[in-house]
Amino acid sequence: MTRFLRDLPADLAGKRGLVRVDYNVPLDAGRVADATRIEASLPTLLWLLQREARLVLLSHLGRPEGRPNPALSLSPVAPELAGRLGTEVLFCAPCDGEDALRASRELKAGQVLLVENTRFLPGETANDEVLAGRLARLGDFFVNDAFGTLHRAHASTTGVPALLSPSGAGLLVERELEALGALERPRRPFVVAFGGAKIGDKIELMRRFAERADLVLVGGAMANTFLRAQGFETGTSLVEEAALDLARSILSAGEGRIRLPADVRVLDRTGGKGESVEKVESVRVDAIEPGMAALDIGPESHARYAEALRGCASFFWNGPMGLFEDPRFAAGTFALAEAAAEATAAGGFTVIGGGDSAAAVRRAGLSDRVSHVCTGGGAALEYLSSGRLPGLDALTERRRP
Ligand code: 3PG
Repeated sequence: MTRFLRDLPADLAGKRGLVRVDYNVPLDAGRVADATRIEASLPTLLWLLQREARLVLLSHLGRPEGRPNPALSLSPVAPELAGRLGTEVLFCAPCDGEDALRASRELKAGQVLLVENTRFLPGETANDEVLAGRLARLGDFFVNDAFGTLHRAHASTTGVPALLSPSGAGLLVERELEALGALERPRRPFVVAFGGAKIGDKIELMRRFAERADLVLVGGAMANTFLRAQGFETGTSLVEEAALDLARSILSAGEGRIRLPADVRVLDRTGGKGESVEKVESVRVDAIEPGMAALDIGPESHARYAEALRGCASFFWNGPMGLFEDPRFAAGTFALAEAAAEATAAGGFTVIGGGDSAAAVRRAGLSDRVSHVCTGGGAALEYLSSGRLPGLDALTERRRP
């Protein structure tokens, strides 16, 4: 059984709570561009502060591959968090040194210490036991509230709770598991939509989904890989070459339940006579030319996908339908967000899972018109397809002797 905050000892006053949060937030010119994940962590932090615990926060940001990278420092997060918590947030780098240990011991009640990006050290993603031990020294108990990172078996997610007890999952994790639980035995028809660019991470999970859903709608860069697997020209579009065989096997096992776009919105850089001309147009998928990059699904596909959502009882969406940050390629993603809102109004249970799709739904102003917006796409996919998450298992498994 997973332990939660309520399962921690009642008296936490003066204790150092080591909390794994997911502050993998988008940065723009050194500032936090979207604070959704910071806000999502507040209920747990406030719960612990109300009980007079002293808090040390661990997180990764981006994929710095085990090396310090100033562009991926967590330092811009500290003032954002302090403003929202209404308390002082100290910052210390690196996350595992003697300075961090001293700072954790000198924390006063109500103070919060955020330590530098855990992925600046190679031991984080390697789940190195020595690093886990150095991090575990920073707390007297451990809370994992980094829902978006529960699918990673890293030092700060699975290594630390193996060494630091008591431990439990935070309120964000609890809320996310509740919403996803409703999709474990979904009301039918169950429709899922996949898009986005983290194709390598997701395609195997998508195969498992394709076995359970009544309909799978594919868009974004994910669709390019499927189109190429079917033999279509995909021009300069983003395609995961290594996943082509898997895409073919998903299509043949999907027995017609998998829908690919009929048309796409492309950026055409073909130009003429040595000129560099940029043109944006919608073309059918069999008319993509070598100089074109597909960056959104086209209008006929919007209509088909919206139609597919009409009358669905459950819907799960991971990954935008296109490069929605660019208004020229946002229509497909926003059309699907609108269709999800309409499906919710008609009584469907709709879950948006993933940083980018959640950001798109927020940008469309529709967050309040869907059933649940998840803070972690990869974790949601892993949980829904396998029912397990390493970060969660680490809070339930027996401690090492
Ligand atoms: C996410 O944004 O999905 C989580 O923070 C996990 O990040 P990762 O995919 O780099 O492990």
